[in-house]
Amino acid sequence: MEFSGFMKTQRVLVTGAAGFIGSHTVDALLESGHEVVAVDSFRTGRATNIRQCAKQTGFVFEFADVSQEGALKLMCLKYRPDTIIHLAGLVSVVQAQEEPDLNFLLNIQTTHTVAETARACGVRRVVFASSAAVYGDIADLPVREQGETRPISLYGTAKRVSEQILDGHAKSFGLEVASLRFFNVYGPRQDPRSPYSGVMSIFADRFAAGEKIHVFGDGSQTRDFVSVFDVARALVLGATREGLTSEICNICTGKPVSLLDIIGEFQKLYPAAPAPEFLPGREGEILHSAGSHRRAEEVLGFSARISLEEGLQTLVRKSRSAVTKSAKLMPQYA
Ligand code: UD1
Repeated sequence: MEFSGFMKTQRVLVTGAAGFIGSHTVDALLESGHEVVAVDSFRTGRATNIRQCAKQTGFVFEFADVSQEGALKLMCLKYRPDTIIHLAGLVSVVQAQEEPDLNFLLNIQTTHTVAETARACGVRRVVFASSAAVYGDIADLPVREQGETRPISLYGTAKRVSEQILDGHAKSFGLEVASLRFFNVYGPRQDPRSPYSGVMSIFADRFAAGEKIHVFGDGSQTRDFVSVFDVARALVLGATREGLTSEICNICTGKPVSLLDIIGEFQKLYPAAPAPEFLPGREGEILHSAGSHRRAEEVLGFSARISLEEGLQTLVRKSRSAVTKSAKLMPQYA
């Protein structure tokens, strides 16, 4: 495969733009000089995540639910984007198990809508938020894109089906596709109080509040934690790298760490924190997750730059300031 470089200024429509990953992606696109049509229904996204973009040139926001018939088409006919970065979806594995219809609508059918809308409106490329969940319980680590997928959840299955829907449009209609399989994404703006939140933001929030953390299992489980700033950069590369046809890339650091290591890092920043409480492991959970980052390097020129230490420090700074702000809002509790 030959790459001739990057596309110049692009007009990129981002679905789920006010979400955790979406809002960082919008920031990264604007920083790189691209035009952004940010679309969100605020089902889980928040206006505060993108308020810093409001006055920037090249940014427009549209309130719309892309799972609704015709909504995305209207946006595409109005703005004629070169690329769609499709991040809107049901993000929780647990909620997908509890609400299979919603998972089908948001994580499968809407991908078909995005693919068909792109075709109908002449959008050149779709970049899709896939997940390491497509691998399921594959024991041969690190997992590689060319290898087997064996999802063990409705969420993982839906992400895999979506990749295939997009690949079908690539093969049949020449749509350019980049499906990025995110590993454990962490960073500012991930809501720590959501029952579906990732362990990093839950821990950051609890350490900042001086509360005890809970560890499910003995803490030896490993994950590949990738900073949302790196993930946003990978998405920009996915949108702008020349020469893509239909690609799937793991977005990970290639350096999995254990929960105990993470806790050790937090404890350095909070030496007086209460000791963690160890609880039984979560049922059906995989012990180790590790991805190969080689394909993303080859195809996108992407490798993660933010070290765990640096990423944690940023997260902790934000969590501390959130705690300070809420104390100021509620002086009776300060
Ligand atoms: C993550 C993703 C999920 C993805 C899956 C497979 C998140 C929130 N979830 O799940 O979307 O499909 O990878 O790639 O990013 N833990 C604690 N204490 C807590 C919270 C969690 O010990 O308070 C443990 C969990 O039991 C788990 C580990 O921390 O062993 C990571 O948990 P979590 O952040 O929820 O991510 P995954 O389970 O890896």
